[in-house]
Amino acid sequence: MDRCAHTGTPAGDHIDLAPLDEVLERHADDPGALIQVLQETQAIYGYLPKKTLRTISRARRVPFAHVYGVATFYSQFHLRPRGDKLIRICHGTACHVRGAPEVTRAVVEELGVRVGETTEDLAFTVESVACVGCCGLAPVMVVDSQTHGQLDVVHTRRIVAALREDSVQPKDESE
Ligand code: FES
Repeated sequence: MDRCAHTGTPAGDHIDLAPLDEVLERHADDPGALIQVLQETQAIYGYLPKKTLRTISRARRVPFAHVYGVATFYSQFHLRPRGDKLIRICHGTACHVRGAPEVTRAVVEELGVRVGETTEDLAFTVESVACVGCCGLAPVMVVDSQTHGQLDVVHTRRIVAALREDSVQPKDESE
């Protein structure tokens, strides 16, 4: 069964709603706390499974369309599982003209996903972002908080292959 890389929670509809019930109970008397409820729900499950949105809608007596609308309006919320590592490829102007499209192609080919998607093993999510603020290093991609700059296709493939290798290594139990 697929599991959320962050929480170990099973993906899809087979999720334990008990922690969400606790969140809903804590905010039951605050009608303005929808965003906070969504934030806490995402902190628990790593994303916002549809089932949690339905549960929130019922418990707070708010139309599902409203809950869904809020969850999709803010970029901080994710409706699909996220990978253990987040690869953000900069598509600001400087990066774009210096090769972001080629970098992107190298990443998606190495990982077998499209931009905006997560690998099946939940190891990586690939995103396209606007300027990350280090245009002098263009083209740039950021893996979690680590910035890789002056990329070309070969370098990019090497980085992603190393990350991939790392993600399949069994974790050292003594760590
Ligand atoms: S455009 Fe990519 S870092 Fe600024």
